[in-house]
Amino acid sequence: MLLHRMKWLLAVSVFAGSLRTTQARVTDIVLFGDSYTDQSRAHSISNGTYPAKDYQEVYPPADTAADGGFQWPFYLGINGDYKIWNYAVGGAVCSNALTPLLGVPDVSSGQQAWFVQDHVAHNSTAHQKLLLDPASFVVILWVGTNDIGINNFVTDDQAEDVALPDVADCQLDTLRALHVLGARRFVLNSLIPLQLTKLYSNSSDPTIYYPSPPHNGTAWHRSMYNLVHSLNRMLRDGVRALNEEWRGDGRVEWFDTYGLFEKMYDNPTQYFNGSIPANVTGHCHQCPDPDDWRQCGIGDCTLEARDSYMWWDELHPSEQTGRNLAAEMHKKLLGESQY
Ligand SMILES: *[C@@H]1O[C@H](CO)[C@@H](O)[C@H](O)[C@H]1NC(C)=O
Ligand SMILES: *[C@@H]1O[C@H](CO)[C@@H](O)[C@H](O)[C@H]1NC(C)=O
Ligand SMILES: *[C@@H]1O[C@H](CO)[C@@H](O)[C@H](O)[C@H]1NC(C)=O
Ligand SMILES: *[C@@H]1O[C@H](CO)[C@@H](O)[C@H](O)[C@H]1NC(C)=O
Ligand SMILES: *[C@@H]1O[C@H](CO)[C@@H](O)[C@H](O)[C@H]1NC(C)=O
Ligand SMILES: *[C@@H]1O[C@H](CO)[C@@H](O)[C@H](O)[C@H]1NC(C)=O
Repeated sequence: MLLHRMKWLLAVSVFAGSLRTTQARVTDIVLFGDSYTDQSRAHSISNGTYPAKDYQEVYPPADTAADGGFQWPFYLGINGDYKIWNYAVGGAVCSNALTPLLGVPDVSSGQQAWFVQDHVAHNSTAHQKLLLDPASFVVILWVGTNDIGINNFVTDDQAEDVALPDVADCQLDTLRALHVLGARRFVLNSLIPLQLTKLYSNSSDPTIYYPSPPHNGTAWHRSMYNLVHSLNRMLRDGVRALNEEWRGDGRVEWFDTYGLFEKMYDNPTQYFNGSIPANVTGHCHQCPDPDDWRQCGIGDCTLEARDSYMWWDELHPSEQTGRNLAAEMHKKLLGESQY
C-alpha cells in the first residue's frame, strides 16, 4: 500500500516537474516579510533614511542583518542567478491595522507600496502597467512571526476584535492584491517552529526581546506551538483556495518552512558546519544582561564557530540556516523540493 502510494506520488511529482519546465525561466524574486528576510530596510529607517525607489542596500558590510551576516535572499540570488527585490522590514507584521508592533512598513500596505513604486508604471490610471514579466518573477511572502509573537497573540495583547483568521486572511489578501497588479507566480512560506527558539522556549528566563515583566515560559511555549500550527493550517488551506479561485491564471506554492526547520533541528550535523559540534538549541549572539542592549555581543561565539549554530540569537535563525533555506528555496523554484 505504502509502495503503491509512493509510486503514485512519484508519478505526480514527475508530472508537476515537467509542467514547470515549460514555464519561463525565473529571473527576478520579489520578497515581502520581516526580520527573517530583511537585508537592511529596518536599520535604514531607524537610521533616518527611508528607502526610496529602487533601493537595493544589502548588509553587510555597512551593518549586519538580523541573522548576524548576509540574509537568505542574498544566497538565493546567487544560487539561482536571480535579481532580488527585497521589501521585507525587520519588525514588520502583515498589517499594522490588525496586529501593530513597531509601526514599520507592513506587508499589506507599506511594503506593497514599494513594489508599486519600483515595478508599476502609471499606478491607478488607465495606463497602469506592470513592468516585470509575470512569467519570469516569483513573489515570496513570509510573515507572521511578529503577528503572533510578543505584544500580540502569545501575550494575549491582540485587539479585542482581531482573531487568528484575520491574520491569515491578511496574507492571502496581500497575494490577491499582487495578483490584481499582475503578479502570477507566488510562494507562501509557512511559519517556522517558533517554539524551538529561546524566546519561546519552555524557559522563563528573561531575554533581550522580553526582559520584563517576568513571563511563564511553559505557557508561552505551549501557546506558541498552538498559534504556529493554527496559522499554518489556515494559510495552507488558503493556498488551496487561492489556486481554485485563480483557475490556472496564477499559482501559489506552499513552502513548508516549518518542516525544513524541523528537519534541521533533528539532523544538526547534516546542516551545520562551523568549527564546533553542531548546536540547534543554543545561539551564537549573546546579550549577557537582558536589560542592556549595549552589552549584546559580549560572549558571542567565534566567527569560525558561527555556522555550527541553527540560531543567531533568541529569535533569529543563523546565516547558515539561511544558506540552507536559500538552497531549498532554489530547489523549490525548480520544482525539485520536497518542502
Ligand atoms: C547611518 O547614517 C549615518 C549618517 O547618515 C551614515 O554615515 C551611516 O552609514 C548609516 N549607517 C547605515 C548602516 O546605513
Ligand atoms: C497606487 O494607487 C493606489 C490606488 O489609488 C494607491 O492607494 C497607492 O498609494 C498607490 N501607490 C503608490 C506607490 O503610489
Ligand atoms: C518546562 O518547564 C517546567 C518548569 O521549569 C518544567 O517543570 C517542565 O518539565 C518543562 N517541560 C519541558 C517539556 O521541558
Ligand atoms: C505556567 O503555565 C503553565 C501552563 O499554562 C501552568 O501549568 C503553570 O501553573 C504556570 N506557572 C505559574 C508559576 O504560573
Ligand atoms: C558551511 O556550508 C556553507 C554551505 O552551506 C558554506 O558556504 C560555508 O562556508 C560553510 N561554513 C564553514 C565554516 O565551512
Ligand atoms: C549550545 O550552545 C549554547 C550556547 O553557546 C551552549 O550553552 C550549549 O551548551 C551548547 N549545547 C551543546 C549541545 O553543545
